[in-house]
Amino acid sequence: MNSMNRRSALLAGLGVAGAGALAACSGSSSTPALISPSGPAVTAADKKRTKTGRTHALTLTAAQAMVDLGAGITARTWTFSGRLPGKAVRVSTGDTLAATLSNQLPNQATTSIHWHGIALRNDMDGAPPATQSAVRAGRNFTYRFTADAPGTYFFHPHVGVQLDRGLYAPLIVEDPREPLSYDEEWVVVLDDWLDGVTGTPDEAFAELRQGMGGMHMGEFMLMGARSPLLGGDAGDVRYPHHLINGRVPADPDVLRTKPGKRVRLRLINAGGDTAYRVALGGHRLTLTHTDGFPIRHQQVDAVLIGMGERYDALVTLDDGVFPLVALAEGKNATGMALVRTGSGGPPKPTTRPKELDGKIMTASELRAADDVRLTPKRTDQVHRIELTGGMMTYNWAVNGKRFDMNNPAADPITVEEGRRVRLDFVNGTTMWHPMHLHGHTYQLGSGGPRKDTAIVLPRRTLSVFFDADNPGQWMLHCHNAYHGEAGMMALVAYQS
Ligand code: C2O
Ligand code: CU
Repeated sequence: MNSMNRRSALLAGLGVAGAGALAACSGSSSTPALISPSGPAVTAADKKRTKTGRTHALTLTAAQAMVDLGAGITARTWTFSGRLPGKAVRVSTGDTLAATLSNQLPNQATTSIHWHGIALRNDMDGAPPATQSAVRAGRNFTYRFTADAPGTYFFHPHVGVQLDRGLYAPLIVEDPREPLSYDEEWVVVLDDWLDGVTGTPDEAFAELRQGMGGMHMGEFMLMGARSPLLGGDAGDVRYPHHLINGRVPADPDVLRTKPGKRVRLRLINAGGDTAYRVALGGHRLTLTHTDGFPIRHQQVDAVLIGMGERYDALVTLDDGVFPLVALAEGKNATGMALVRTGSGGPPKPTTRPKELDGKIMTASELRAADDVRLTPKRTDQVHRIELTGGMMTYNWAVNGKRFDMNNPAADPITVEEGRRVRLDFVNGTTMWHPMHLHGHTYQLGSGGPRKDTAIVLPRRTLSVFFDADNPGQWMLHCHNAYHGEAGMMALVAYQS
């Protein structure tokens, strides 16, 4: 019996059926059953979360809209409630969010919302078909969960390459005992943009998946994007625009305050295929958080942010007008917003402050803050996660296997609740990959920063640690929207 048939037989034997089949077995008959996304273990873990009892109810309508990117550029795209980025959702630590997704997308498109970086209960993770079935056109689904760790997060669909449309928005979990002091807080969302300008993300993906061996090189495939910081090939996709808070550099978002004010920047990379090097002209940044979690403060001139990563930084502002620039790493293009505290003409839209070439620290050089460092403990389980594939046939995968959306639990990476787990990301490819784990915030190395998305450079290995304390079935994937969709995804599943 081949493994496919044996698996089906096992599923049938267990009486499990349908998409999102929640307690599947893998091909090996010795593999134990998996914890179901809405099972008792998930509910028990959720009970342990500290809750304020407050609930924030809101509706997010996913629908087609015309958006104004500035400078006379408009684009037909998909957004949440007509805005780009979507309106930031703010809750306080321990609050419950009750967010109703209303799917009004065209073409019978199914969708979902994934709450990127939040350690929430598994059945609210919005990752079809593993944790729910995708929300059909014309239908609603209410996500109800408690966010019990403060920080900078965001949300986006987890279906196809919808992330590369306009369907994204910040999610800020405020700390009622915020230890940092600052006068203002600005959320800065970075995004590479093509939707409704040169085509759609689906068209881009269709072209990419033909591979370099394919007959035609069209509008979307980008060759020769090089970045020393990223260890070589920087990206696959050509974007006509790079946006900060939904605006092009020629008509930028303007962030205003008074000179001398101390500002907290919450930087979010919502891009599909672009890492950004971010700097504020005339200023240094003090990095305070990676992916929502505090680090030992570190002064830098610029910060490199992969897709799905977030960094928080403090900066005390001078008097004048300053460009906040996001250099599309290796792509020779920039996004820009303006920081205005005084008078003066704006810098050119193509300006590149010298800070971009100043001191940059990569995540592996940062240290977790004392209160969020994992307590030293013996590692119980180790998994080798090989990142495989390439541009030739666009066969991006994990451990040589393209993820099978029809069988998400076919070949899970299993963990046991209560264990200290190490994942070794072994990148055998010639490209970097921002590797994202749902439902957990791992730690880089023994005392590195806590993160849920980390850049793994080509030909390198990165080891990350986490405590298996959030039972369920969790996606692990490259946050390059096109690599993930091509198959560089896996399922980390708790065994029961
Ligand atoms: Cu932000 Cu699985 O994604
Ligand atoms: Cu990748």
